[in-house]
Amino acid sequence: MSDQDVDDVAFLTGTDSPTGQPQKKSLYENNGVAACSHNRALCIATIVFALLFTIAIIIAFTGPQSDCTCAGEKPPNYVDEGTNLTRTFIPRATNGQIFPWNNVRLPTTLKPSKYNLTIHPNLTTLEVRGQVCIEFHCEKDTHFIVLHSQNLTIMDKLVQDKRGHNLTIVKILEYADGQQLYIETREKFKKRHNYTLTIRFNTKLNKNPTGFYISSYTTSDGDRRYLATTNFEPTYARTAFPCFDEPHFKAKFKLTIFRDRFHIALFNTPVVNTDDLGFYMGTGLLSDDFQETSEMSTYLVAFIVCDYTNLRKETERGLSVSVYTPPPSKNQSIIALDTATHILDFFESFFGIPYPLPKLDLVSIPNFIEDAAENWGLITFRDIASYDSTQPSTSVEQWIVKTITREIVQQWFGNLVTMKWWDDLWLFHGFATYLEYLGVDKYFQEWKMMDQFIIDKTQPAMALDALVSSHSINTAVQNPSDIDNIFDTISYSKGAAVIYMLCNFLQEEILQNGLNDYITTYKYSTSDIKEIWNVLSRNTNESINIKTVMDTWTHQMGFPLVTLTKEGNELSVTQTRFLLTADIGNSTYLQPKSKYDYKWYIPLTYITSNDSEVTNTVWLNMTDIRFEIDPELKWIKANVNQTGFYRVMYEEEMWYALIDLLKNNHTVLSAADRASLIDDAFTLCRAGLLKASIPLELSLYLVKEKDYVPWATAIEHFQNWARRMSESLPYKLFLKYMRKLLKPITQYVGWKSSGSHINQLIRAKVLSAAVLCELNETVTHAKSLFQKWMLNNETLDPNLKEVVYSAGIKFGGMAEWQFCWNAYNSTNIASERILLLKALGQPRGDPWLLQRYLIETLDKNTIRPEDVTIVLEVVAANPEGKLLAWRHLKAYWPTMHSLFGNSTTMMGSLISAVTAHLSTPYDYYEVTTYFNGMNVGSASRALQQSLEIIQLNINWLNKNKEEIYTWLRKNLN
Ligand SMILES: *[C@@H]1O[C@H](CO)[C@@H](O)[C@H](O)[C@H]1NC(C)=O
Ligand SMILES: *[C@@H]1O[C@H](CO)[C@@H](O)[C@H](O)[C@H]1NC(C)=O
Ligand SMILES: *[C@@H]1O[C@H](CO)[C@@H](O)[C@H](O)[C@H]1NC(C)=O
Repeated sequence: MSDQDVDDVAFLTGTDSPTGQPQKKSLYENNGVAACSHNRALCIATIVFALLFTIAIIIAFTGPQSDCTCAGEKPPNYVDEGTNLTRTFIPRATNGQIFPWNNVRLPTTLKPSKYNLTIHPNLTTLEVRGQVCIEFHCEKDTHFIVLHSQNLTIMDKLVQDKRGHNLTIVKILEYADGQQLYIETREKFKKRHNYTLTIRFNTKLNKNPTGFYISSYTTSDGDRRYLATTNFEPTYARTAFPCFDEPHFKAKFKLTIFRDRFHIALFNTPVVNTDDLGFYMGTGLLSDDFQETSEMSTYLVAFIVCDYTNLRKETERGLSVSVYTPPPSKNQSIIALDTATHILDFFESFFGIPYPLPKLDLVSIPNFIEDAAENWGLITFRDIASYDSTQPSTSVEQWIVKTITREIVQQWFGNLVTMKWWDDLWLFHGFATYLEYLGVDKYFQEWKMMDQFIIDKTQPAMALDALVSSHSINTAVQNPSDIDNIFDTISYSKGAAVIYMLCNFLQEEILQNGLNDYITTYKYSTSDIKEIWNVLSRNTNESINIKTVMDTWTHQMGFPLVTLTKEGNELSVTQTRFLLTADIGNSTYLQPKSKYDYKWYIPLTYITSNDSEVTNTVWLNMTDIRFEIDPELKWIKANVNQTGFYRVMYEEEMWYALIDLLKNNHTVLSAADRASLIDDAFTLCRAGLLKASIPLELSLYLVKEKDYVPWATAIEHFQNWARRMSESLPYKLFLKYMRKLLKPITQYVGWKSSGSHINQLIRAKVLSAAVLCELNETVTHAKSLFQKWMLNNETLDPNLKEVVYSAGIKFGGMAEWQFCWNAYNSTNIASERILLLKALGQPRGDPWLLQRYLIETLDKNTIRPEDVTIVLEVVAANPEGKLLAWRHLKAYWPTMHSLFGNSTTMMGSLISAVTAHLSTPYDYYEVTTYFNGMNVGSASRALQQSLEIIQLNINWLNKNKEEIYTWLRKNLN
């Protein structure tokens, strides 16, 4: 850096004299953020500008304050019918005046096209100084600007037309609740003209992980290092700088960031220039200028100041991909880096559209709440590269690969094309989730991701969506700050599952062409659900009206039960809404009213004994159908690979044909089909539609099963049965039956960490299940591994940790529990922390330990608020902890409420976790009495669901326990 440069550093300031460089330091200290220029002329221009700015500000605040002419003016309603955006009260600005814009949405009269942003965060003092210059286009004559701003102290504002003439600001109002800023000018903004708005502002780095916030990690020497990072989705960009914070306001962004020498700065695009700001700034700061971005939404902007190191690699066409981590984790980022480059190559060719930015960075952020955030070109992850040994466990590795893949898919599907409004968030997530599984499936074929899709998404979504208290996926979002409350497992998992069904009946090639067409049409812009359905229909040559089909899945809650009956040469197929609580009676299963009357367009797929390789498809177009079949058919299996979002009920004789097939030659059916039969049989029994002996008979074939997905499905149902029956007669016999089924597979998988990815997953799954049902050999071996770990400090195979911890705690005592508790308190690794938390809830025979564990959840320094649900869940799933967990929830309800910052979403998941296994009328009475008349806010949906589930558990037990007991007695001898 030359002297000349130093001389020419100048600051945008509202108050100081234009004369002297000697004052620069103090200028800075008074006024903060600055534009740095390279020649004297610019310097003077800047100072002149600053003076004008001052004058403008003075006029703005002291000039005539006209009464607002637009108060009460109806905002243009550019949102779908049915939503009501008008606030029902009169908003007041911070100075007490009426805030003239009465709408949570911004007006569309002005469209931002470009942001010049300068940010100077100080990681020591937490102060942030910023300046933003927004260039915008006027679409319709107006005399005011409304934009978003939250917790920002606005210092100066200036509005100019294209030739640099100032417009007179006559009114500036801030509306804190609405997070909006209103700026009124005397002169009109004229249609088709461009203007700029410049704002200087101060704020502080947030301590919560939203907006622009401070975070930290600990080095191996125990040093605490700080970083400043962002997390803007959905509405936190406005807390970092004033902006038009709605996804459809896409603009280009240019950033300059000021930082200390020992830090680096990252943005969506690469650095193009770094300046030394010289000694004026105190210790000699640097400023990085970044390349201008393409048009993008505000929620995808990201910047980070940290002291990380990186590993870098190029994709096949030479695109630079880096993984940034704290220096100690550097070598653990190799999996992430390899995955990212491969997946990027894959999706460039899948979408047929190159990744649109000059680089992609993946950054590991400590204590990140979500799994990841898909910021364009700068993806942030929770603990992407943190595991304690050289190799992560198989499930952690799979998590890393899946998460990276999903975020990369979103670089196109979400970032290049963005939803018009948050209503369609589930849709973009749904596609991204489906493509995530598809991408990983192509990259690692042996992982069988499409089979795993059904246990991760379809089955859990169907379990919830079968309750009366469900809701439809498509929900109007008015205030985006409600997104967390509006979108839950049903929206995301069912959303993904119905997209999976869609992609299956479209076929991959049409889907791929359709997505290419869609992204090409709407790139750098926004789109909504109707447009994607149209493009896909067009790609089927209008042979399927996708909107008509999909509306029946997204605009009504629930899903169909398809019933197959053989009638001579014909197969009769009927559809009704599937409800777990079917004995509520016929009158209620059509409630609340649906405009589709609970009928669906169902792509019914099936295979038969004539050819198990060929999938047949017939459509039920909101109707029942019947068609001819070969009367000689031995069996029919419908909903091939469980790709459809519906359940299938067969006649008893047809069930027994399938059971025979499984017992004699189960591999005729695919692993996903076997899982789907298990899932349907157990669920239909739960709903009272199938007697218990059918799922039990069916499960007998499992002594021969060696695949992951059928086992994972079966174990889920077995454990639920066991928990529900834990206070009734068949319980001990049922555990014995589980041991009988699990014994062969535990011997088959053994204890050696070897075999394929799927083998590792199945080993961890069945051994853990064997410990829970107390299979002797497994328990003994796992306990001995625990002792070696505890007493001789031997390392554990990461894939066996779950089973070893769980055996150690469940069959150990105080010493084992304390040892794991200490391990929990000394680990920094998220996956390890969660494994230990789950194990710590499993002790038996010692209520004192369970009670102590529950009490620890009240101290947020010991157990993080986001982990409290895990603790309550495992204690409630422990037959000895069930009632303790419920008592704890009641006793500490208000305390926990304040622990979660009054987030009713968290309270909802606590209610679900604690009540899931309650199954006596007395429990039902307890829960209803406790919550009677209490306002639980948005947790009320979870409460309703929980009550429905308890009632369901009671009914199921009443109806089935005798039969289960009889069947078990007969089959266990
Ligand atoms: C919107 O809300 C206002 C205030 O509650 C009400 O007067 C109006 O009728 C509602 N409009 C619609 C379309 O629901
Ligand atoms: C943003 O900065 C660039 C260069 O730093 C400049 O050319 C451009 O005019 C600025 N735009 C606005 C809106 O201030
Ligand atoms: C932050 O403040 C500290 C102490 O005042 C100073 O040493 C440091 O250089 C500042 N850093 C930045 C980036 O301003």
